[in-house]
Amino acid sequence: MSNVSKTGKLYGVGVGPGDPELMTLKALRVLKDAPVIAAPKSSNIDADSNALEIIKGSIGVEGKVILELGLPMTKDRAVLKAGRDKAAAELAGMLEKGLDVAFITLGDPMLYSTFSYLVPLVRERLPHARVEAVAGVTSFCAAASAAMLPLAEGSESVAIEPCAYKLEDVRRALKTSDTVILLKVNKALDGIIKLLEEESLLNNAVFVSRASCSDAEIVTDLKTLKGRDAGYFSLIIVKKGSI
Ligand SMILES: C[S@@+](CC[C@H](N)C(=O)[O-])C[C@H]1O[C@@H](n2cnc3c(N)ncnc32)[C@H](O)[C@@H]1O
Repeated sequence: MSNVSKTGKLYGVGVGPGDPELMTLKALRVLKDAPVIAAPKSSNIDADSNALEIIKGSIGVEGKVILELGLPMTKDRAVLKAGRDKAAAELAGMLEKGLDVAFITLGDPMLYSTFSYLVPLVRERLPHARVEAVAGVTSFCAAASAAMLPLAEGSESVAIEPCAYKLEDVRRALKTSDTVILLKVNKALDGIIKLLEEESLLNNAVFVSRASCSDAEIVTDLKTLKGRDAGYFSLIIVKKGSI
């Protein structure tokens, strides 16, 4: 069994949606102190380089170990499991050396982040490993600010739906919630626009890409997006009532 006092600590650090000024003071401190920065590396080059780019301008990475973890973006369970097992073993290896590791994640580490899958796998290997999540500003909060669109007021409810799976789940959320945040919209954009038309909600939706970045885009006429590759960093907020 590992020696708890000598084992490093694993941090899941939310680096925010893109604007480095939206990184928290705590994220900055943890990233500055940690000798190892772990970053997911998948087939989605945009997503990977982005998290590292966000932090590079704010902390000196010279002298730190940058641990790129191969984590394929796929729905193939066996491939996913193999990638996560390997990544967890690499993280555990660093922790066993007594090194603290900061695993960087876009937005918040507790929202659709690989971090939450890796924690139990690391704990399988190091049951006493200390783990801490450092909350980050989420993409949809940044998008709501960019669009000046309150996500909820009074008794309104909010749902978050990933659009990489069944769009019928999105339809259900649209029927039952006052505000619906649609993430991972890039590959499903045309289907989402059709769905919003069917539910008479097209005029209640706003599309935001690269929220908080200098090249952020806000689109309120979603029909103009038909057939377009929206890019990975894009989402849609649907709010009943007027926008
Ligand atoms: C795997 S989820 C990660 C969510 C992230 N952990 C968070 O807290 O926002 C990735 C999705 O978040 C959304 N996203 C992330 N950053 C964004 C940004 N700057 N602007 C718009 N959407 C963004 C996109 O929908 C993207 O497909």
